[in-house]
Amino acid sequence: MTRTAFSATGLVCDYGRGPVLRSVDLSITAGEVVGIVGPSGCGKTTLLKAFAGIVPVRSGELRVFDEPLTRATAHRHVSYVPQSSSVNPAVPMTALDAVMLGLAGRSPRRPTFSRPERRRSFELLERLGVDDVAGRQVAELSGGQLQRVLIARALVTEPDVVLMDEPTSGLDLRRLREVLLLIRDLHRSGTTVVLTTHDLNWVAAQLPRVVFLDGTVVADGRPLDVITTEVIDRVYGAPAKVIHDRRGNVVVLAQLSGGAPPSDAAPARTVTS
Ligand SMILES: Nc1ncnc2c1ncn2[C@@H]1O[C@H](COP(=O)(O)OP(=O)(O)OP(=O)(O)O)[C@@H](O)[C@H]1O
Ligand SMILES: [Mg+2]
Repeated sequence: MTRTAFSATGLVCDYGRGPVLRSVDLSITAGEVVGIVGPSGCGKTTLLKAFAGIVPVRSGELRVFDEPLTRATAHRHVSYVPQSSSVNPAVPMTALDAVMLGLAGRSPRRPTFSRPERRRSFELLERLGVDDVAGRQVAELSGGQLQRVLIARALVTEPDVVLMDEPTSGLDLRRLREVLLLIRDLHRSGTTVVLTTHDLNWVAAQLPRVVFLDGTVVADGRPLDVITTEVIDRVYGAPAKVIHDRRGNVVVLAQLSGGAPPSDAAPARTVTS
């Protein structure tokens, strides 16, 4: 039987200065991988925080696995990976400690961790390609390294749902691919993944489902169906060229003006040596 991980009906959330999310209707089935895209300030992080039980629901209904979403029900099912830029790593701790801290709160005897928990935490750092910095202070990590440590911390409890806020920002191509492969593995293991991204090509186009948000849901479906010039123009107010190739790939090219790119543009050069 398929279960509904999240169901939002007429969801309104704000920070006291007018609604940020205005009547969001969205249903996410358990095991789905969904990408939330939209312009800066459109409410992507707010939506993830509402799903994590951090931002309260002003009106409408929000349910997680068929129960009203509260801090407690969210805590039972959901792990949240914040945007790494919003994390202040001022507290002195190593990357491995930071991952194990994900286990805190699950047992009253914290913060001591068993050998298997320590091993599992280290294995997650290995899987994310950051085991080499396991003993380093989080304050000393690069943005991309911190991002992957935060992902490991969210996964250590083996949650039903992982919410990732811009998990691929600041990653080089190889690390980006590793994180996308990890998301694919999570999908295969039945974990629900909801992530945000600004990358319509590398990330959103790789996902089975993309939701365009602009305070409310503007488009929702397969990348092939919803990543279109019309939707991009409507959501971002910026012209773009969208190319769909025969293999089902979607490529979005930003345009400086509404028309075709200038024909006298210099051809791209490939440096081979
Ligand atoms: N803690 C807060 N207090 C007051 N306003 C906030 C708070 N957090 C976010 N906002 C406002 O809510 C709106 C939505 O912010 P949110 O962080 O959800 O956007 P976003 O789509 O994630 O943007 P970005 O792509 O830049 O991360 C913005 O106008 C923002 O200024
Ligand atoms: Mg955000």
